[in-house]
Amino acid sequence: MERWRGGYRSTVLMGWLRRALHPRELAKQAKTEYGRAHALAERLSAGTEVLAESAQFLERTASSANDAVEKLAAVLAGGIEDVVAATPRLSDSALRGFVGGKPTDLTPGAAQLLDYASGFDGFAAQAGLWFNPPVCVSYVEGDVRLGPVNERIVEIPFVLGALAALPAGSVIADVGAAESTLSLSLASLGYRVFAVDPRGYPLSHPNITSGAATLESWECEPATLDAVVCVSVVEHLGLNAYGEGAEDDAGDAAAMQRMHSLLKPNGLLVLTVPAGPWAIEANERTYDDDHLTRLLHGWRVESSVFVTRTDDGTWVREPASVIGDKRGVMLVTARA
Ligand SMILES: C[S@@+](CC[C@H](N)C(=O)[O-])C[C@H]1O[C@@H](n2cnc3c(N)ncnc32)[C@H](O)[C@@H]1O
Repeated sequence: MERWRGGYRSTVLMGWLRRALHPRELAKQAKTEYGRAHALAERLSAGTEVLAESAQFLERTASSANDAVEKLAAVLAGGIEDVVAATPRLSDSALRGFVGGKPTDLTPGAAQLLDYASGFDGFAAQAGLWFNPPVCVSYVEGDVRLGPVNERIVEIPFVLGALAALPAGSVIADVGAAESTLSLSLASLGYRVFAVDPRGYPLSHPNITSGAATLESWECEPATLDAVVCVSVVEHLGLNAYGEGAEDDAGDAAAMQRMHSLLKPNGLLVLTVPAGPWAIEANERTYDDDHLTRLLHGWRVESSVFVTRTDDGTWVREPASVIGDKRGVMLVTARA
């Protein structure tokens, strides 16, 4: 029985082996495996292509993104250049916007510009066309205010009053004439005027002769002038206040002598100087009674009027021309 069973098993096994190893069966299996491998190879190949396409796509995208960034940067840079180029025009047109405006329109910047423009060192002054106004105004945000009133408020009328008796055609030198319209007024009133100033005189008139000259260097025949006007000048002379040259403490006295020599006998000097406790500062002197007396040595004083300032806007004529410890301006007429 056992032997029968063993025989039976061997027979089955042999049959299975014969079938499994049959060339037809082997060919069939090989075909199936080849098919699988082929399919796998095809999928791998397709995957490789997809990867290559993706890489190319990424490269193209990166390149066009780079182009876009470069273009954007160029546009921005151009834009900034345009804005910078347009800025002066923008501010210029903003400034023009103030024309026709009201004081309440004044911004701090516009007020500052107007203050600068109308000042002693502003645009007009640098062009030699600033004429020191007796009444100043100051510009502030949203308003225009009264500024200080300076000594010209009394000096100019005093000069005109002092010269009133001179007949038309009289010859007058205005020493230190720049920054003032006085020479032009005198010329327009019929006087023959020499406007003497190292900075020249910017206003012209048929009756005005001018040229850049100091009083010391001015070529003028002695004893030829009917009058000399010297408004707020002598106190500066010799101190190089206007960069006119070498310093000389006695420059004021020398100027007084020179003016004396140019005047005809009995010719008229109209002089104004700062008055107060004696001081000699970087740019000007202030004369006390003693120094004023010395300055006028050799002259026959006809009149002296002392005017003091009680506040920024008020000048008051003193009853006597004694300076003492007060401060103001002395207005003098004297004869050579
Ligand atoms: C304070 S300003 C007075 C200007 C004018 N007289 C007025 O009433 O406004 C002084 C003037 O003196 C002039 N000056 C300075 N040195 C001078 C000199 N050596 N001879 C003549 N004028 C001089 C300056 O150029 C300046 O214009």
